[in-house]
Formats: sequence, C-alpha cells, structure tokens
Amino acid sequence: MTTSHNRVAVLHGVNFDVLERRDPEVYGGLSLNELEMRIKAWAREVGLGTIFFQTNSEGEFVEYLHRLPEMADAALINAGAWTHYSRAIADALDVAGKPAVEVHLSDVESRDDWRKESVFDGLVLAKISGKGPDGYRDALTVLARELDPTES
Ligand code: DQA
Repeated sequence: MTTSHNRVAVLHGVNFDVLERRDPEVYGGLSLNELEMRIKAWAREVGLGTIFFQTNSEGEFVEYLHRLPEMADAALINAGAWTHYSRAIADALDVAGKPAVEVHLSDVESRDDWRKESVFDGLVLAKISGKGPDGYRDALTVLARELDPTES
C-alpha cells in the first residue's frame, strides 16, 4: 500500500473573509473564495490536495494548527496581521511540526515597519510576499518539492 503525503492545509487569518472589501490597490480586489479556487487548481497541477480554513479568532487558528497533523502533511499560511505579533500562533505552528510556507499578497517589506517582522521567521521553509495570488503558486511549488523531492 502506498501512502500519499500530498495534503496541504491552506490557512487564512484575520480579515481574509472580507478580502474583496480590502484596498484593491494593495490586495487586488478578489474574494477569498476566488483566491481559494485558484489555489486549488494550482495545487492540482503539482499533485497536491488542499483543505481550506479561515477564521477571525486567534484561538481557533491555534486550535486548527493543533489538529493539523491529523489532516494535512504541510501548511500554507497567510495569517494576516497576526503574522506580525502572534507568538501564540508561531508556537502552535511549531507544535504542528509540518513543513510550512508563509505567503502575503502584498509586499510586507515595503509597507509599514511593523509589517516587516514575522513571528514565523525560522519556522517556515520560505516567506513569499508581494506577488499577489501568484505567490501562492510559488508556495505550492516549494511544498510539492518538500513533500516529494523526486517530483517538480
Ligand atoms: C497580509 C499582510 C499583512 O501585513 C496584513 O495585515 C494582512 C494581509 C498580505 O497578505 O499581504 O492582513 O498578510
């Protein structure tokens, strides 16, 4: 029997439920559902399955990370503003113990100073920012390689 290790949990944090209402100059104007449909299609292209999660509750985000090892082999995370200050979420990702990539739609390095800091530093395989939705495609490629080094 072969076991597949191709399940990626895609986690969105605070304010992503209203993505289409956020500044289109910064975030592109698309909805979370549209973004997730793109991610799902890109994941299929590199042989990955996806499950999606979004919450505005930091505690729920932490609890999802606690359950993550039962549901997924890797994580793709855009935690929104929590990225910049939630040590609790960073600790929970550490507990999950799965390969993870951090993505941001906007270029967090060229915005406010406080956005330059990430609690995920040292915990993720890569941090991809400023590429809009295409950044998720790059993140999926990184995870596909990590989960199956003989592929892609
Ligand atoms: C974001 C960048 C964060 O600084 C911000 O708080 C967000 C979205 C991004 O995808 O560009 O909510 O993570």
